[in-house]
Amino acid sequence: MGAVSFRKLNKSYGSLRIVKDLDLEIADGEFVVLVGPSGCGKSTTLRMLAGLESITSGEVRIGDTVVNDLQPRQRDIAMVFQDYALYPHKTVRENLGFSLKVRGVPRAEADRLIEEVAAMLGIGHLLDRRPGQLSGGQRQRVAMGRAIVRRPQVFLFDEPLSNLDAQLRGQVRTEIKKLHQALRTTILYVTHDQVEAMTLADRIVILRGGVIEQVGTPDQVYNSPASVFVGGFIGAPAMNFLRGRIEAGQARCADGVTLDLRQVAGVPAEGQEVIIGLRPEHIRAGHGAGVDFAATVQVVEPLGADTLAHVGIGDAVLTARLDPKTHPQTGSRIALSIAPGDLHLFDARTEQALR
Ligand SMILES: Nc1ncnc2c1ncn2[C@@H]1O[C@H](COP(=O)(O)OP(=O)(O)OP(=O)(O)O)[C@@H](O)[C@H]1O
Ligand SMILES: [Mg+2]
Repeated sequence: MGAVSFRKLNKSYGSLRIVKDLDLEIADGEFVVLVGPSGCGKSTTLRMLAGLESITSGEVRIGDTVVNDLQPRQRDIAMVFQDYALYPHKTVRENLGFSLKVRGVPRAEADRLIEEVAAMLGIGHLLDRRPGQLSGGQRQRVAMGRAIVRRPQVFLFDEPLSNLDAQLRGQVRTEIKKLHQALRTTILYVTHDQVEAMTLADRIVILRGGVIEQVGTPDQVYNSPASVFVGGFIGAPAMNFLRGRIEAGQARCADGVTLDLRQVAGVPAEGQEVIIGLRPEHIRAGHGAGVDFAATVQVVEPLGADTLAHVGIGDAVLTARLDPKTHPQTGSRIALSIAPGDLHLFDARTEQALR
């Protein structure tokens, strides 16, 4: 079956450690999205699973088979890249059918598989064109089709939509989700895009410097980030952070700003240095949500459905996503609040979540 497991996986280039003791179990049929900053080892991890990169130490399994020493074509996986990597001189039909031909699948059977996949992706009318005669989105569908006809145990996607414009990205993203619902093949998918990660994943893996920071459902990583890093990485606009020190149930931040945390469950011990996380979408205009504060509006960005206000509180600047009806005015002092349950508290020293 198409389960994947990484056990104590390491990759080094010389003395440079890129992936460090990575442990991850992916269930058969699961859709796992790998996110993290540029250079954190996402592609390297995918390429080690694909067999395109050697493994320095540790073990990679697909199903019950240790694949460390297997050639890419022996691993029963298919990979879709950002740049599509189609054969430019072959037609769409030939691109889709190439792997079938190599495997010696009879012509009639191959044609049937090609037509079926083309219909599934809505590219049936493009079979006689060459990649140069296709739009970016169409090329991306051909690249996916080429992976699908092989019916692999595992699909690997490395930022497959990053060359598409925003609208097309949304469309193809929905198609990938439908595809997974129909095929139920295991997918490991790398992206920079928050929305892709949140909408596609059964579980999200957040990688930082070759180490897993958190693995969880989209709901878990958004609502219960394990660290300041995850809190700041998941969610857009990014989570705001304030540093403070707990004194008599209040967080005393720089510049005489205090947040009253007496209604917040599990406030840490007196004297503890904390980092408080506030998501822009959880900050409300007006007092009364539980933890009240005031701030000075510096910049207002109307987005239509909501308005981003960048507000100064002490020496910090927070972003608040407000109802446009509140019309925040640049330079004015406004009342804001946040529900106690929406505050995130982290240990300022370890940067790990406190509750
Ligand atoms: N052949 C190589 N020799 C030395 N270092 C390498 C080599 N290939 C990759 N690296 C380094 O390994 C690190 C991880 O690279 P990788 O491509 O996995 O990052 P990534 O997370 O996919 O980043 P991005 O989001 O930019 O695609 C990078 O710092 C990169 O410079
Ligand atoms: Mg990469």
